[in-house]
Amino acid sequence: MQISLAQQVALVTGGSSGIGAASARALAAAGAAVVVHYNAQAEPAQALAAEIKAAGGRAIALGGDVSKEADVERLFEQTLETFGYLDILLANSGIQQDAPAVDMTLEQWNAVIGVNLTGQFLCARSALRIFKRQGIREGVSRAAGKIIHMSSVHQVIPWAGHVNYATSKGGLDMLMRSLAQEVSHHKIRINGIAPGAIRTAINRDVTEGEAEQALLKLIPYGRVGEAEEVANAVVWLASDMSDYVVGSTLFIDGGMSLYPEFRGNG
Ligand code: BGC
Repeated sequence: MQISLAQQVALVTGGSSGIGAASARALAAAGAAVVVHYNAQAEPAQALAAEIKAAGGRAIALGGDVSKEADVERLFEQTLETFGYLDILLANSGIQQDAPAVDMTLEQWNAVIGVNLTGQFLCARSALRIFKRQGIREGVSRAAGKIIHMSSVHQVIPWAGHVNYATSKGGLDMLMRSLAQEVSHHKIRINGIAPGAIRTAINRDVTEGEAEQALLKLIPYGRVGEAEEVANAVVWLASDMSDYVVGSTLFIDGGMSLYPEFRGNG
């Protein structure tokens, strides 16, 4: 299967590490020009953009806080100034700040909702404004723009000790589907990806050593996933190969959302 995103421009928020970085690489390998967005980690984002350019692709690293309206507006303006168009938004920025609910501070709650939910809304809103103005770019893609929201299995699996995170992802599912219902008739495609345990910095403490054994009990397929496995799905969802996929969430979780604790139980 050969997927080409030639002539398309993709913006990847949270592109400096983990699933975002793997996705930026994969989108570039499929031919898209890529904006590698970062919040704090300028250096790895710039290194990734340089790596893509050295391989013959087009890329730029741009900073900003996705929970801040002015930053998001500047990010999308700079994207258009640099590449002229926007065809794909991978809204991927996400953070965790874990604490039992009784100890969770308002700052921890607001920080996670701000990035994982408000940030996703602000980025989607900016992308939609561009997509509606741009319309379908004949010969480039069948859709007038594609948004992929990076969610989590925790959009359906409750998560004790992480109520801010699980709430943000549950809300993100409804954001994604409501937006899809609102704009699909403009030929704009909006979908979500819900990864399970993927080996990245966000969960290093549970994917290494003894903790990994406990985690594996929750994964019927018997292993932790890799960022590249999510990136492959990003490329497919961004391409015309998935042109009839609208308002769906693709779970990439080795079966985690099948509630394996119920096998022979309950
Ligand atoms: C979280 C990870 C966690 C995984 C499975 C992800 O959304 O970011 O920290 O390991 O869900 O629970």
